[in-house]
Amino acid sequence: MNRDDFPILKDGVIYFDNGATTLKPNCVVNEMVNYYTKYTSNIHRGDYDNAMKTNEVYDKVREIVKDFINAKDIREIVYTSGATESINLVAFGFFKKYLKKDDEVLINKAEHASNVLPWLVLEKEIGIKVKYIPLDENHELTIDNIEKTITDKTKVISVAHISNVIGDVRNIDEIGKICKSKNIYFVVDAAQSISHYKIDVEKSNISFLAFSGHKMMGPTGVGILYGKKDLLEKTDPLKYGGGMNQSFESNGDYILKTTPIKFEAGTPPIAEVIGLGEAIKFIKSIGIEKIHDYELKLKEYMVEELSKIPNIILYNKNSKSGILAFNVEGVFSQDTSVYLNHYNIAIRAGNHCAKILKDDLEIKNTCRVSLCLYNTKEEIDVLVKALKNSKDIFKVVI
Ligand code: ALA
Repeated sequence: MNRDDFPILKDGVIYFDNGATTLKPNCVVNEMVNYYTKYTSNIHRGDYDNAMKTNEVYDKVREIVKDFINAKDIREIVYTSGATESINLVAFGFFKKYLKKDDEVLINKAEHASNVLPWLVLEKEIGIKVKYIPLDENHELTIDNIEKTITDKTKVISVAHISNVIGDVRNIDEIGKICKSKNIYFVVDAAQSISHYKIDVEKSNISFLAFSGHKMMGPTGVGILYGKKDLLEKTDPLKYGGGMNQSFESNGDYILKTTPIKFEAGTPPIAEVIGLGEAIKFIKSIGIEKIHDYELKLKEYMVEELSKIPNIILYNKNSKSGILAFNVEGVFSQDTSVYLNHYNIAIRAGNHCAKILKDDLEIKNTCRVSLCLYNTKEEIDVLVKALKNSKDIFKVVI
């Protein structure tokens, strides 16, 4: 990997907000520009050269995604607008039909809004019970606590692979095994892990997997829902329109296409799908294990250095991803973020959309550094130096 692949870095920004969105390498942007400047056309509609080329490039991405997560069939790969839409499709297109009153869905308090709210809505609409698997003393999700929370009414376990504030890597192989043995559907939000940690949907027995392109060095506006084929066949679309129907008649009859096309009404984000394919090729060219090892080493270095500063509180020293949540003692997280911006350091401050984690963490807002493969030790040194001088925060912020 060459930092020159990411032109934005030349402007000197120290970008530590990769959990919110990652930077985009040249190959992703160039491929999208190619589509816009050389062969723009819609998909699955035209019979001319450019339309054929678009079909070919666009359809190929489904293969690329399938191989990346080891799905069995391209019909298990649905293009969506992002992880949020993917989980909404699962909740409202599938589970709304299949769950009954008092069925239990297990989540936990570290989940992002997109893996809490759809279930809370189903709780109101059809009377399911949303249960929170307790987190351990490090705010992490353990297999032991999952097993203790399961009852014979448990129908779904829905968790992030890597939580977006605590950054703990959940043992999805083990959870998948438990789900298989107890006939529980397993939903995984891979938004924070997809470009950092290898995922094998078959090995982990995942029923549905959701992720976004923009958190894996791809474009915004595109994401993936993986679903086991038999489950997607039983899932209803949330959008109806062009492209997804076989036929419709004035007498009210209609026939939909099969999965995945039945979920993709209207003109899809074509350039973004193409960009997503390039992002996956880029990740594969480096190697996902190498990316994860590098980011984890960087995080360990950051923890070691920040631990030496007496007024820095670290919330998740030991979690095994590039995510670190911290606060400067007595300082509102957003003030710290504004202060760091003064040094051209971009972090995120706030509740990070994990709004019920506060019950467990006993603090509402934190600062979050989330690392990516282009971050360096030198950048961490700049952060550490700025935080060592944090007595200056109010001089800078006010
Ligand atoms: N879900 C994104 C984050 O954690 C936006 O920042």
